[in-house]
Amino acid sequence: MVSEDSFRREYEKLPQLGNQPRAELGLVKTSIDSLPRLSAELGINLLIKRDDTLPLAMGGNKHRQLEYYFGQAQSANADTILITGAIQSNFVRLCAAAAIKTGLHPVIQLEDRVPSTDEVYNNSGNVMLDRLMGAEIHYFSEGEDEAAADANLDAIADGLRKNGRKPYVIHLGMSHPPYGGMGYALCAAETMLQLSDIDQAVDHVIVPSGSGLTHCGFVSGARGMGWDVDIHGICVRRPKDTQQVRIAKRFGELMELLEIDYKASTDDLRVDDTVLAPGYGQLNKHVVEAINLAARKEAIFLDPVYSGRTMAGLISKVRSGEIKPGQSVLFIHTGGAPAIFAYENKLRSYPG
Ligand SMILES: Cc1ncc(COP(=O)(O)O)c(C=O)c1O
Repeated sequence: MVSEDSFRREYEKLPQLGNQPRAELGLVKTSIDSLPRLSAELGINLLIKRDDTLPLAMGGNKHRQLEYYFGQAQSANADTILITGAIQSNFVRLCAAAAIKTGLHPVIQLEDRVPSTDEVYNNSGNVMLDRLMGAEIHYFSEGEDEAAADANLDAIADGLRKNGRKPYVIHLGMSHPPYGGMGYALCAAETMLQLSDIDQAVDHVIVPSGSGLTHCGFVSGARGMGWDVDIHGICVRRPKDTQQVRIAKRFGELMELLEIDYKASTDDLRVDDTVLAPGYGQLNKHVVEAINLAARKEAIFLDPVYSGRTMAGLISKVRSGEIKPGQSVLFIHTGGAPAIFAYENKLRSYPG
């Protein structure tokens, strides 16, 4: 379990977090850096929180979420961990890595979620890393049906139980507690303290909104500390209307877990699907532009599914005037770099 000392300042801000089981998976402090060349290009003051550099197995936001799921798994004395996700899921890769680091057996289910994939997509990037780590891999064809994917995972877990194993299942569906969101409540506390240390205020925070736990985790932490910055969730999987309902439910559950009494307004839970089309894991010209701009101006690598789409969402807000010239914006880079390699053919052949 994580020692409380190294998180003293964060736990002072959100004391309830200190009571939650949390596994040690490596240091979870990341830097906030400025991006001067991309700032000049966009006419804003752009800062970046480098969660892509978290130390677990090539980085990314799910490290922070997994600390809390593995805290639960350890409390339940599990010996096996199960998770489901898209073929190029970063969550699955990081879950397999966390299992290895904590001595559990990783069982992963890869769902067909993205249309017209190729050999490289199906075998390179995250899948290659899953195989290198020796994860037990299952495949599931109905990638759009979250409940069915969870049910199939539960059936695998039942089989393991019959063989004397103690499985812990990380479900994706909405009927299970959003433990992972607490990782981003803690990230909000870390971020607020860092910004105050460098005497830097920000007008907007931009995060991806997929399962929604990064997004509403960050909002729960921020509002729990009385930080009322504008936080924008960029839709990476579902359209705005569906995502808004999801986020409202998850936010309420997280506030209950954190024992924070707060009624969210629509301004607290902003979601934007301007750059989502044609859908999850598929490229569009805005995503490709964002990936190229970040690489060419700052040598920052963004992935086509999450961080590239989130940067595209940020750029669209600058162009629409929602983010005003000269404002300070913090982009949370949630990682996903291994997926870039899986999209090699698609990126290379993208028109323009
Ligand atoms: C790199 C990356 N960024 C963002 C997300 C979205 O985070 P969340 O599911 O918490 O909304 C994911 C989800 O898998 C991810 O892998």
